[in-house]
This record gives sequence, structure tokens and C-alpha cells, in this order.
Amino acid sequence: MTMVCLKDFEEYARQHLSKATWDYYAAGADECCTRDDNLQAYKRIRLRPRILRDVSMSDTRTTVLGTEISFPVGIAPTAFHCLAWHEGELATARATESLNTCYITSTYSTCSVEEICAAAPNGFRWFQLYVYRDRNLSEQLVRRVEVLGYKALVLTVDVPYTGKRRDDIRNRFKLPPHLKVKNFEGVFEETTGLDEYGVPANTLDPSISWKDVHWLQSVTRLPIIIKGILTKEDAELAVEHGVQGIIVSNHGGRQLDGGPATIDCLSEIVDAVQGRVEVYLDGGVRTGGDVLKALALGAKCVFIGRPAVWGLAYKGEQGLREVLQILKDEFCLSMALSGCRNVAEINRNLIHFSKL
Ligand SMILES: Cc1cc2nc3c(=O)[nH]c(=O)nc-3n(C[C@H](O)[C@H](O)[C@H](O)COP(=O)(O)O)c2cc1C
Repeated sequence: MTMVCLKDFEEYARQHLSKATWDYYAAGADECCTRDDNLQAYKRIRLRPRILRDVSMSDTRTTVLGTEISFPVGIAPTAFHCLAWHEGELATARATESLNTCYITSTYSTCSVEEICAAAPNGFRWFQLYVYRDRNLSEQLVRRVEVLGYKALVLTVDVPYTGKRRDDIRNRFKLPPHLKVKNFEGVFEETTGLDEYGVPANTLDPSISWKDVHWLQSVTRLPIIIKGILTKEDAELAVEHGVQGIIVSNHGGRQLDGGPATIDCLSEIVDAVQGRVEVYLDGGVRTGGDVLKALALGAKCVFIGRPAVWGLAYKGEQGLREVLQILKDEFCLSMALSGCRNVAEINRNLIHFSKL
């Protein structure tokens, strides 16, 4: 089978994963309006290509928080990679190391952070964190990833409660008994039951607020990136509270249904922060052209969630490498066809605003 674009991997995953697993990865909240709009919104944006600019040499490299990556696409944190491929996050770690890009490891990984780092010792990684009712548990995770050389913490702030995902309820989705949330082994299981996903129940703290960002800053010197901002007001607050980065994200449309597509609120956030912190985006990125549009609207880098899991479902490490390579090649081609030789030349002049 020749895989040409990310849709081919999606189709493969749809056909080969169990129904419950496919539904879990695909799920959006409620009527899935926001999940679907994340993709549709890119199709409403048109480009203003420039010509005759000698695009014989292209350079897709960029940096995130000072670290160089080979192109501006990283892996968003998604749970339970062992559901897609038996090696799970170990395959994710190896694929991202070989493509030299950033892998945001989910707290809800089915391999431990220690195993992930051992599988790809030279990989560039950030760690996604939740604030738990028991702050010591969050702090313990921070200590572990600091020692392992994770370069930043990504604090997910859009899950005070889990969104309502209808198919998961119908399927009574649960992590199968042979898989575990490995980062919690020996930490949570003895003290609490597991929720419907097989992760520790009632552990996330819905009272989390900006003061917890200060708390996190007080226990670590790692840079903190806030994931889940969708408005200029919250972007401004994030800068005022001294974070180092923002991920414009609606959790792939799995939390609040009815919120905006992420690409549609990127400009307002980029304008609000005025270069004081880096702004990234995830949600609905499926082609190299989408990456180009997000960068033109001010994202420093984008992250893919579901497509990474589809790559794993196809062929593990090799499958995810193919997903990343296809996106990289498409991005390189889109850059050249719009007259950009490097990422520094990508800017808002590329966007046809009267079409928005
Ligand atoms: C199956 C699945 C599991 C996810 N798990 C997490 C998670 O553990 N932590 C987190 O911060 N975000 C999680 N997310 C959200 C992703 O980080 C990201 O925001 C989203 O998938 C991006 O949209 P895309 O899937 O359209 O690329 C998850 C998303 C999916 C689809």
C-alpha cells in the first residue's frame, strides 16, 4: 500500500483498529462541531503565493524555546499509544528522535517516562502535565522528568472535567487490563479506583487556577507552556503570569463543543502576546499546507495529535516516521510554491484576508 497523505493513514487505522479504540481516538465532545471545524477552518483560508523567488534551496528548520527542530511540526500529547501499536510510546520516541522534532509525552502514557527516554536517549521532549488534587503527585512527576532531561512542562488547562464523548460512553471504553498508565505505577493505584478510561478517578483538580501556575513555577525551573488557550484575554494573563509559551488548543475538539477552530483564534492570540512568548497550535493539522497557513498566521510550530496515532497503528515507529516525513515534504513543497525559502520568510502577507 502506498501511503501518499495523512488521510491514507487515517483510513488504515479506521480499518485495522478495534471499533472501541478507533472511536476513542476519533472522539470529539458532544456533536463534534469543534473537532470537525478544526479541519474545515483550514480549507476556508487561501494563500497569496509569490513567484520568481529562486526556491531551488529550501530550509524547513526552526527552533522552539531555543532548540532546533528539522521542521515546525511536533507530536501533541495523546494518551495510550500501546492501544495503537504494541511498543506504544517507545515507537513514538524513536520516530521523533530520528526526524529530529519535539515529542510532548502525555502523562497518560502506556510506557513510563523512564522507558521512553531509554528508548530514544537523544530525543527532544517536553512533558505534558495535569495538576492533581494531590499536588505532591504532580510534583513527583516533575522531579522525574527533570532528571530525565525533559526540556519543558506543558500544562494542560482545558480539562477541569473530561468532555462528554458519546461513543466512549456507548462502548464503555476502558483501557484493557494488560495496559497500564505506567507513569502512575505504584503511585495512584493503591489509593484510588480508576475512572471509565482506566486512569485514576477523581484525581484532576477542577479548582485549578492561575495561582497553580505560580505553584508550578515555585517547584521547577523548567519552562512552562500553557496548553489550551483560545482567547486573547487568557493569552495576556498567561504572559503576565510569566509562562514561556502558549499552545492554542481545544484538545482536538474533545472538551468544549462549540468553541472555535484553533486556526481561527490564532491571530488574536499572536497579536495579544506581541512576541513576548512563543505561540504554538494544535488541532486539525493534516497537510503541509495547513502547517504553512498556521506559521503565516504566527505560530512558531504546530503539533499533531491523531495523525501520530494513525502512523503508529500503521507500522509503529516506521509508520510515524512516514507520517512525519510526508508532512515535512508537503510543507517544503508548499513553502516553495508560495515563494518561501525558509521559515523566516513565512508571514501574514501569505494570507488572502478578504477570503477569511
Ligand atoms: C486520543 C487522544 C488522546 C489525547 N490525550 C491527551 C492527553 O493525555 N493530554 C493532553 O494534554 N492532550 C491530549 N489530547 C489532545 C491533544 O494533545 C491535541 O490537543 C489534539 O489531539 C490535537 O488535535 P488533532 O488530533 O486534530 O491533531 C488527546 C487527543 C486525542 C485525540
